[in-house]
Amino acid sequence: MSIRTATLNGVATIEIARPEKKNALTVAMYQAMADALNAAQADPAVRAVLITGQPGIFTSGNDIEDFMSRPPGSGSNAADSPVFQFMRALLEIDKPVVAAVTGAAIGIGATMLLHCDFVYVSDEARLSMPFVSLGLVPEFASSLLLPALMGHRRAAEKLLLGDPFTAEVAVECGLANAVLPAAEVVKHARRVAERFNALPPAAVRESKRLMRRVGKEAIFEAIKTEGELFSARLRSPEAKEAFQAFFQKRQPDFSKF
Ligand code: COA
Repeated sequence: MSIRTATLNGVATIEIARPEKKNALTVAMYQAMADALNAAQADPAVRAVLITGQPGIFTSGNDIEDFMSRPPGSGSNAADSPVFQFMRALLEIDKPVVAAVTGAAIGIGATMLLHCDFVYVSDEARLSMPFVSLGLVPEFASSLLLPALMGHRRAAEKLLLGDPFTAEVAVECGLANAVLPAAEVVKHARRVAERFNALPPAAVRESKRLMRRVGKEAIFEAIKTEGELFSARLRSPEAKEAFQAFFQKRQPDFSKF
């Protein structure tokens, strides 16, 4: 199984564990993460959630082979897809979610951080959102939230050029709380998550709901609009060229488009 879950001392941990493929997320892994988030929400023993990866890699984003062989559909069944269920579960959970970004965070590995309450990043991590370079468009409401968080120009570097950025820049832009030495990041994130054992759980949950209520509809609308475009773009010749280039370990050639 590529997603490991465990609940210990009030913290439900979701560990992405597919290091041989740089923690790329398959349909089954999205489903497992959605189920784990929903279980954490329902379990009164859980006070907070910790999402983490492997040393050197948080996640390389969506599995590109899945993109090629079974691209998620659009329309009404898109809402039932495991990736959408994962997004909805992360948006709906009212317990604090802490991310320990243990290494590279690419694509949804970076955009999911926009929906976590606390984000701690390894000093060795690089983050990137290379949707355009893959012939795609931003997802998980990043087209809405990233410009709102850091301003259009800094968001354009990340979303239009796909420029990778450091953990320090992630903190400076408001995407992360702090940079930690690689060996410390999970321990620190866990300590933060465990602090919720000493806080009144209903007050925490109601406060999180209050903090998240403004803009929630706009976030769902953005996810839907992005999802329709994303799904169409997955089938585009530009995306096909980008995916093939990735597996052939060469630079894509967009000059013909
Ligand atoms: N989907 C599917 N497979 C992936 C993957 C992904 N997102 N990311 C890595 N892999 C696979 C590689 O194909 C390779 O498989 P192989 O050993 O069978 O050839 C293996 O994981 C190791 O990856 P590799 O590229 O050799 O490692 P690296 O250390 O040189 O580079 C990354 C690591 C993460 C920088 C690089 O793999 C990468 O850029 N991945 C794609 C990221 C991406 O574009 N994600 C989609 C965002 S929407």
